Amino acid sequence: MPGFLDDIAPLKTAALAEFSAATDLAGLEQARINFLGSNGRFTALMKQLGALLKEEKPVAGKAINTAKLELEAAFTSRRSELELQAALPKDPTDFTLPGRRRVLGKLHPLTQVTEDIVRSFRKIGFVVADGPEMEDEYHCFDALNTPADHPARDAQDTFYLAPALGGEKPSTLLRTHTSSVQIRVMRSQPPPVRIIVPGRVYRRDNADATHNPTFHQVEGLYVDRNVTVGDLKGTVEFVFKELMGPETRIRFRPHYFSYTEPSFEIDFSSALTRKMGKEWLEIAGCGMVHPQVFENVGYDPEVWTGWAFGFGIERIAMIRYGINDIRLFYENDLRFLRQF
Ligand code: DAH
Repeated sequence: MPGFLDDIAPLKTAALAEFSAATDLAGLEQARINFLGSNGRFTALMKQLGALLKEEKPVAGKAINTAKLELEAAFTSRRSELELQAALPKDPTDFTLPGRRRVLGKLHPLTQVTEDIVRSFRKIGFVVADGPEMEDEYHCFDALNTPADHPARDAQDTFYLAPALGGEKPSTLLRTHTSSVQIRVMRSQPPPVRIIVPGRVYRRDNADATHNPTFHQVEGLYVDRNVTVGDLKGTVEFVFKELMGPETRIRFRPHYFSYTEPSFEIDFSSALTRKMGKEWLEIAGCGMVHPQVFENVGYDPEVWTGWAFGFGIERIAMIRYGINDIRLFYENDLRFLRQF
């Protein structure tokens, strides 16, 4: 009996050592068989229990059972560890490394400027209107009073779309300005009208630092009773102060557009123009809607008055951010785009 009890502890220690030394599930299973299998060393010791004296059995039985439970628990816990290890990827992962940051996207600078322009006009009650980029000569030129021999209508200046097979001279084109949307809106609703139209336009220009075959404009149109040049000037001044800073000044210079009479070019002056070495920079065209345009869309020019303007979004963005090449906007170079 003393021999039996003395054998338990070293055998248990040996088994525990083999369990923890096992480096994979197969090795652990082998260790289990070595000790707890039907021919295992621990099983062999248990078998000796039967040979003990009757009065020795309770103490010896209790001791060996306790040891067996301990061994089984140690085996199960080592097996869980090895199973987990087997399930992990072969290349060890360092979970304490900081994660890779995802760079947040931003709006393109032209989108940002467009949104600023829209926000400013919304404050004074304008709504955004929209029209097709593929236009016809009527909306782009005729209804705007632009004569058939005007250079803008020349195939050298405008992208005409091919006519249907056997068709006439093409009359579909890519709009050269957002002014075409003035006509579309007025023909689709009665006055009053108070809209702005941000959108893409196309011209047959070669790309250089200040030109690109496609760029963006904002058109504005206000039609109501008794609208004056004073309203136009006040509105333009409000918006450009919002866009270019509160000390911005504007001035109107007489000009010619076929769809407005009188017509003006708008110059502005601010810290931004002075940074570019100029006091005044031309920024937009505008005027009072020509009575013939009202006739063309079915508005009575004796009752309704209005003004319109148009300007380039790229030009605003270039002046605002001090960009000297318009092509940068279209190249999608992240080193450029990240600045905004
Ligand atoms: N359509 C002109 C352009 O493309 C800009 C413009 C000038 C629009 C005067 C207007 C306007 O509505 O009244 O340059």
